[in-house]
Amino acid sequence: MDHNIQIERSTNLKSKPDESKLGFGQYYTDHMFILEYTEGQGWHSGRVVPYQNISMDPAAKVFHYGQTVFEGMKAYRTENGIKLFRPKKNFERLNRSNARLSIPQIDEDIAYNGLIELLNVDRDWIPSTEGTSLYIRPFIIATEAALGVNPSQNYLFMIIMSPVGAYYAEGVNPVKIHVESEYVRAVAGGVGEAKTAGNYAAGLNAQEQAKEHGYSQVLWLDGVHRRYIEEVGSMNVFFKINGVVHTPMLNGSILDGITRNSVITLLKYWGVPVEERRISVEELVEAHNKGELEEAFGTGTAAVISPIGELSYHGEKFVINNGEIGEISGKVYDTITGIQTGKVEDPFGWVVGLDS
Ligand code: COI
Repeated sequence: MDHNIQIERSTNLKSKPDESKLGFGQYYTDHMFILEYTEGQGWHSGRVVPYQNISMDPAAKVFHYGQTVFEGMKAYRTENGIKLFRPKKNFERLNRSNARLSIPQIDEDIAYNGLIELLNVDRDWIPSTEGTSLYIRPFIIATEAALGVNPSQNYLFMIIMSPVGAYYAEGVNPVKIHVESEYVRAVAGGVGEAKTAGNYAAGLNAQEQAKEHGYSQVLWLDGVHRRYIEEVGSMNVFFKINGVVHTPMLNGSILDGITRNSVITLLKYWGVPVEERRISVEELVEAHNKGELEEAFGTGTAAVISPIGELSYHGEKFVINNGEIGEISGKVYDTITGIQTGKVEDPFGWVVGLDS
């Protein structure tokens, strides 16, 4: 495998966007990373090049059969330099997604080194305003031009980067979520735990319907019983019931979120009881009716920690914590973002410096 990374710098640098109006995924940095896979040769020709369109045959398998995976991670500008949050975990998960989608394993060191080279070239794009970061999107697409349904012989691995603010327009204010009872996102044995495009495409329809009724996202229920909580469109989900924090266990159909794992670790470190288990929607309704559903929040790289202020289910509304940020949600948000931006001590060694 060829470990050499070529760098071609852009001669036409773009002007940077206003950091107070970034939104999510609206702007892209000056460069991107590309690595190619050719059957018989493996991954090769890693390079940082100016951000540009790519040209592909219309028969490329990714367009027809969705053979593709992606990741999401962030870089932060802190007082002590540029920092990444548990970046190796993303490349490990990328390879787990690859395995499920019959995409060849990638050398995690080459992918990581490509990211570091790209970040070095585009380091001026990392915003510094509170609440902003550089969102990093590594992804792989199947490029072989052949319509037979079998794994592609060729792939592209790419990394693009985008300066971002909050994922939800609500920022850290609680979002309203609709519990989806008609459509399902995934079933165990399918591709629900892989980070692959189809999982997100499958959710768009329900998400659009929820938006029409004033809800930001949907909370998915399991596809077999239509009872058990899975995850929210772009987040894992946590509920504090009677002093104990509960989150759906990893069951093969939900994403093994890196923020999810970090929150569980943090709660245990604080001595807050936390349980990973099957949680039914009826149980949430009952806890709410008894006044025991104290907090709910989502976790994800893009959304970080997003408090949930209201759930709707079968036409009924369940307001949580008066629609306000709960104590644990706020503490988790402050601590995770504090660790990421170097303002809070990092007892777990999660943060990696770009220059260290
Ligand atoms: C992330 O949190 O990075 C995600 O993957 C969510 C994304 C689909 C916006």
